[in-house]
Amino acid sequence: MLDLFDEPLPETGEDSVAVIEDLALRGEQGLNQMAHPRFFGWVLGGSAPVGVAADWLVSAWGQNAAFHGSSPTGAAIEEIAGRWLLDLLDLPRDAAVGFVTGGTVGNFTALAAARSAVLRRQGWDADADGLFGAPPVEVFIGKDAHTSVFAALGYLGMGRKRVHRVRTDQEGRMIAGDLARQMEDATGPSIVVAQAGQINTGAFDPFGDIVSIARAAGAWVHVDGAFGLWARAHRDYCSLTEGVETADSWSVDGHKWLQTPFDSGYAIVRDTAALQAAMKIDASYLPPQGQGERIPCFLVPELSRRARGIPTWAMIKSLGRMGVEALVARHCGIAQRIAERLAAADGVRVLNDVVLNQIIVSFGCLTVAAGDGKSATEAVITALRDKGEIFVSGGYWHGEWVMRISVICDATMPGDADVVASLILTAWAEVREAAIGQGR
Ligand SMILES: Cc1ncc(COP(=O)(O)O)c(C=O)c1O
Repeated sequence: MLDLFDEPLPETGEDSVAVIEDLALRGEQGLNQMAHPRFFGWVLGGSAPVGVAADWLVSAWGQNAAFHGSSPTGAAIEEIAGRWLLDLLDLPRDAAVGFVTGGTVGNFTALAAARSAVLRRQGWDADADGLFGAPPVEVFIGKDAHTSVFAALGYLGMGRKRVHRVRTDQEGRMIAGDLARQMEDATGPSIVVAQAGQINTGAFDPFGDIVSIARAAGAWVHVDGAFGLWARAHRDYCSLTEGVETADSWSVDGHKWLQTPFDSGYAIVRDTAALQAAMKIDASYLPPQGQGERIPCFLVPELSRRARGIPTWAMIKSLGRMGVEALVARHCGIAQRIAERLAAADGVRVLNDVVLNQIIVSFGCLTVAAGDGKSATEAVITALRDKGEIFVSGGYWHGEWVMRISVICDATMPGDADVVASLILTAWAEVREAAIGQGR
């Protein structure tokens, strides 16, 4: 693709329609079909058409949605979409909702508020004075937390490695007893990071216990719920998240279960003042804040910004509460069915308790490509990708290379479950036969 686009800086311009036609012609040769019903890689929503159309309007309107004064439409729609999100996710209705680019920046933004707040309680203004000389902030986090949280801690000067790693169980859930033990001596400013939806297993931390342990130590509790927090939209899955609403902040993605186009995420913080203290950008030349007006850029780490709330508004408006609920139920049902079919097959192990939409699987114990250390599972993933009928990804889970199947695209229908299971099992049979043929 680089070769396809590699050309010297154009000295003169070209006709705009020709530019776009050329872009489409060349660009389409390097796309992944991420919005396809049988795309199960990583954890990616399906960029639903209504969200895409709303996103076109966002660009076509050419708004800088930093302030209400600069774009009343952008600010007002964000305000309403924020209220709808709090309702859908059943989180405190007076929490602040910052519209960001995704889960990583959601974690960063909420943890910035957390850092500010826990230090302010110790009489230290980190936003004004930075971290040099500040009382050290202790961060407690599950060993199986998502990599983006560690990145966010790094960006915030709290260190990717300078954390207390709390033990987890076989599903990646934080063990509350270990958190309690590790927090016994925590008297200074501290933050606990919990997780709703482990990236591989889809498992949920025990929020009720975590929050009570953290509260006893005066700690802030942040929850990374990029996709898992959407379980709250369905009555049957909501219990998985019990107690999560008592935390202090949450990060969630729109470009996962809500199916908005990329990029869309939310930093939700109970204490609006703490979020604003960490994020606010102000100057006399910028539009003033009128009575009751939302100022989007006071809640996120950007000044100039697109009106990110608009695709979220459009997705919620088109799905409604019942549509979101149905999406969650459908995807979890499909995941269950695929897992059942795979688990019943010879040589296939489903490694997680499929409580949500994530499945991890390993195949046999054959080392197909000697020396790569990854086992037959990688060979099945590669075989499936080569055939091009479905897309799954891989990753390490507790020391083992696994196939990851994430059911989260709105185009994926119940009828896909058996087709997908059969395709995977056929690929596994071929890999096994080839390996036996080669005497492995
Ligand atoms: C649990 C979890 N947290 C955070 C993220 C990061 O989100 P994003 O890729 O939107 O930045 C992901 C992405 O898959 C995730 O699954």
